[in-house]
Amino acid sequence: MGNCWTASSRVDNAHGGAAVADPDTGSPIFVQCLDPSNVNSRAGLSFPSTRTTSTARSSLSVPSYSGKSTGESLPTPKTEGEILSSSNLKAFTFNELKSATRNFRLDSLLGEGGFGYVFKGWIDEHTLSASRPGSGMVVAVKKLKPEGFQGHKEWLTEVQYLGQLHHPNLVKLIGYCSEGDNRLLVYEFMPKGSLENHLFRRVAQPLSWATRIKVAVGAARGLSFLHDSETQVIFRDVKASNILLDAEFNVKLSDFGLAKDGPTGDMTHVSTQIMGTHGYAAPEYIATGRLSAKADVYSFGVVLLELLSGRRAVDKSKVGIEQNLVDWAKPYLGDKRKLFRVMDTRLEGQYTKKGAFTVASVALQCLGKEAKLRPRMSEVLAMLEQLQDSKETTKTSQMEQRNGTSSVPKSPIRHHQPSPLQPLPGGSPLPPEHRSPRTR
Ligand SMILES: Nc1ncnc2c1ncn2[C@@H]1O[C@H](COP(=O)(O)OP(=O)(O)OP(=O)(O)O)[C@@H](O)[C@H]1O
Ligand SMILES: [Mg+2]
Repeated sequence: MGNCWTASSRVDNAHGGAAVADPDTGSPIFVQCLDPSNVNSRAGLSFPSTRTTSTARSSLSVPSYSGKSTGESLPTPKTEGEILSSSNLKAFTFNELKSATRNFRLDSLLGEGGFGYVFKGWIDEHTLSASRPGSGMVVAVKKLKPEGFQGHKEWLTEVQYLGQLHHPNLVKLIGYCSEGDNRLLVYEFMPKGSLENHLFRRVAQPLSWATRIKVAVGAARGLSFLHDSETQVIFRDVKASNILLDAEFNVKLSDFGLAKDGPTGDMTHVSTQIMGTHGYAAPEYIATGRLSAKADVYSFGVVLLELLSGRRAVDKSKVGIEQNLVDWAKPYLGDKRKLFRVMDTRLEGQYTKKGAFTVASVALQCLGKEAKLRPRMSEVLAMLEQLQDSKETTKTSQMEQRNGTSSVPKSPIRHHQPSPLQPLPGGSPLPPEHRSPRTR
């Protein structure tokens, strides 16, 4: 998760930050960076969930969408009622979800994001009504904090997009609840949780090289689908915590609250409020609010770097340039002799020099300063699939693994010791009272 947000009402210049222009109003808005070091210093904890958002609130109408997966253009729902009724999703009552999650019990907590808590629950797979814990189908229930307009808007955007988009690499939304101030979303349960949990929480086995490539390919496939849909969809929040994993480490992208229709016709971008997560958001988007699918490509490049290095996009516990992964790693990515400095030491012996260098150069292309020179997501996918199919990029020799030999020299970088805390499957290792403060 990132560590930066804006909101003029909550911003104090004394805390430091950067002024950027609001593309809608032309007036400056303020991007504030929180210092999450108090959070990060706790073993196994992630940064507080934070997004960059502009001060201006846009209207509640949600962009139209036509899903390619259905093979035909879908109607263009506009009002909240139309969005909810056209989605084919189950409308749950609050009481149903209360019993499905055993009254949102703490020991059902899977994780916490900026907008709410995610609980494990059980529903009957045929009727979709709440069932006894342990029987029926497992689901993940996201309960939004009652935070007002922005939360509601993102909830509705998520229903709008996930109600109509279906693809093996997108998480399945089963239903929603809108009752009084309560806004909830019910998803298929992803047993391995988020990529963030696996990469940065020092629990269990580190992800293998082959799994990291599989994850990169899955995420690229999901994004390619969105970008190449009949009406292009820009995800706008590509990051490790939004890449969920099933039991076989297949990827499903989650969190469509910030998704937006891409430009149409001759337009190169859409102008929007600046939203996303610090460390992942593309520089031209932060500077101007001009959004194109290439902003997702940039964020995907950051995720590739996280997969290579095992380091977070932003890490305030580090010093100087190392706090920002892109700034620190970029100079090494195009240099075969220096790339080892970036590589995750926990990967030793599993990849060839050629394999590591290929991923690094894809990342470097994605992170290009000029948006239009970045590859399209379909091109990124093709490069990664080729790598996955190639026998020369992954070392499988048992002998090499035993001896710990690698064609890429070991990195001198040390990693923190694993946390002794064990998370729920896919969830937080800590009860909520120990978790990061809410930052949005
Ligand atoms: N469908 C799911 N199945 C299993 N675990 C899930 C599911 N959805 C979310 N989670 C868990 O809940 C955590 C919180 O998710 P959430 O989307 O609310 O926040 P986030 O992505 O971490 O941050 P942000 O709110 O900034 O996007 C995830 O990191 C993941 O571990
Ligand atoms: Mg998320």
